[in-house]
Amino acid sequence: MDKKGIFIAFEGIDGSGKTTQIKKLFEAFKDMGRDAVMTREPTDGDIGKLLRSYLVGEKKADIRAIAPLFAADRLDHITSKGGILDLLDEGKAVLCDRYYLSSYAYQALDCDIDWVIEMNSMARELAKPDIHIFLDVPAEISMSRVESRGETELFEQLDRQKRVRENFFKMFERFCDSESILVFDGTKAPDILAQEILEAVRKYL
Ligand code: TYD
Repeated sequence: MDKKGIFIAFEGIDGSGKTTQIKKLFEAFKDMGRDAVMTREPTDGDIGKLLRSYLVGEKKADIRAIAPLFAADRLDHITSKGGILDLLDEGKAVLCDRYYLSSYAYQALDCDIDWVIEMNSMARELAKPDIHIFLDVPAEISMSRVESRGETELFEQLDRQKRVRENFFKMFERFCDSESILVFDGTKAPDILAQEILEAVRKYL
């Protein structure tokens, strides 16, 4: 891929602090005079909105039908006008809240992992992140954070979060040679963690 920007995906189980840390890194980029954009998956586009309606239980479908939608939403995110590829071409730092490692970790709860990986192979080919930042928190902490927000979605139950976390780590082992994955302790104070993330990211700039 011919790109000038930098692509950073944030990952973690629910309530791992991704949103806070993305905002902090975005501010740090701005302070450095670097053009950065925050984005997320599921996206705010048509497919992403449909996905969110499944996640909150407004709509129902078999999980095997939902899994390809995450991959479709991602491809739309990458290729649509003003999407990830365009932003990278413009030299932007693209900070994305969840990307294909989330599909690997979450959809593998209910679907064959190799099928999930295959469905995302085009996304991986078109726009592989320069860095995946994983914020690690125990499932118990993530659930207490999620509950305090007063919203629970399809995947937000303690035992599922534990299995998602395990799946993430299995994927880190599987892809350690082909993906750049940095794991951080998400239980640290937000400002200290933000500093550690920034120091690590600087090495890629
Ligand atoms: P998100 O809005 O990031 O939730 P939170 O802020 O609580 O982390 O993600 C919504 C849910 O979508 C989350 O439970 C994980 C799930 N998800 C998948 O299952 N597969 C995917 O590919 C993505 C991007 C998200």
